[in-house]
Amino acid sequence: MDLEKVERVYTSYAKIYDRVFGKVFHEGRQSVIQNLNAQRDEKILEVGVGTGLALPMYPRHCQIVGIDFSEGMLDQAKQRAAEHRMDHVQLHRMDAAAMEFKDDSFDTVVAAYVVTAVPDYRKVVNEMIRVCRPGGRIVMLNHFSNDNKFIAAIEKVLSPITKNLGWRTDLALHTVLEGTQLHVSRKQNVNPFRLWALVECVNEKYVNGKTHINGSKNGNGAAAYVHLNGTHLTEPAPGQALV
Ligand SMILES: C[S@@+](CC[C@H](N)C(=O)[O-])C[C@H]1O[C@@H](n2cnc3c(N)ncnc32)[C@H](O)[C@@H]1O
Repeated sequence: MDLEKVERVYTSYAKIYDRVFGKVFHEGRQSVIQNLNAQRDEKILEVGVGTGLALPMYPRHCQIVGIDFSEGMLDQAKQRAAEHRMDHVQLHRMDAAAMEFKDDSFDTVVAAYVVTAVPDYRKVVNEMIRVCRPGGRIVMLNHFSNDNKFIAAIEKVLSPITKNLGWRTDLALHTVLEGTQLHVSRKQNVNPFRLWALVECVNEKYVNGKTHINGSKNGNGAAAYVHLNGTHLTEPAPGQALV
């Protein structure tokens, strides 16, 4: 799948997308946003915003930026934003693999049903990390390939077929996270048959080999991650999960 195909496939879905993929994946979108507990003026980027189904769910006290490459999908999102008078929302046509935002522009980056729909998930995830501030949150909602080897084998067989429809089914969460500075802080299965996962990560970008979170250090001299919801998390030992 290349960008031209993204534009063609998703723009062809744009007018029917909400009817087909609206309700069935609503629970996941709702869980993502409810669990954000977004703070006043929090800057949130929604990557692959599509028709903007999630936009009305964000609190109006946040600043929301949505990007999508498909002109058709984005037109629907713009229409929705206008209908709901969402002055706190900005929408741009942009490739998520080469974003036009400066480093550390956002507190939170959300990608709902996107990492398996993009031509190059690695570039997109790296860009999400770049534009999210250190200690910020990166939330991915997606179907990732199953831990069960038999089901994973079926997903692998199906993937070349679903790629023609606009997404792949053979991408594992550990593959997405491999080599990144993302630390999973929460994982929840959502949607029908619990086959989709909401994965919330802390962006542990390293600067000069140290974790910088608002330049802060806790009392022990250890780097501290400060969540926007006020939770303070101490830097974990290598390999230790932050949950
Ligand atoms: C399955 S849809 C998800 C839409 C929406 N997030 C939702 O919750 O329904 C995937 C979206 O990702 C967009 N997309 C795919 N590749 C992209 C890229 N490289 N840059 C920006 N958007 C992209 C598609 O145009 C499409 O709108």
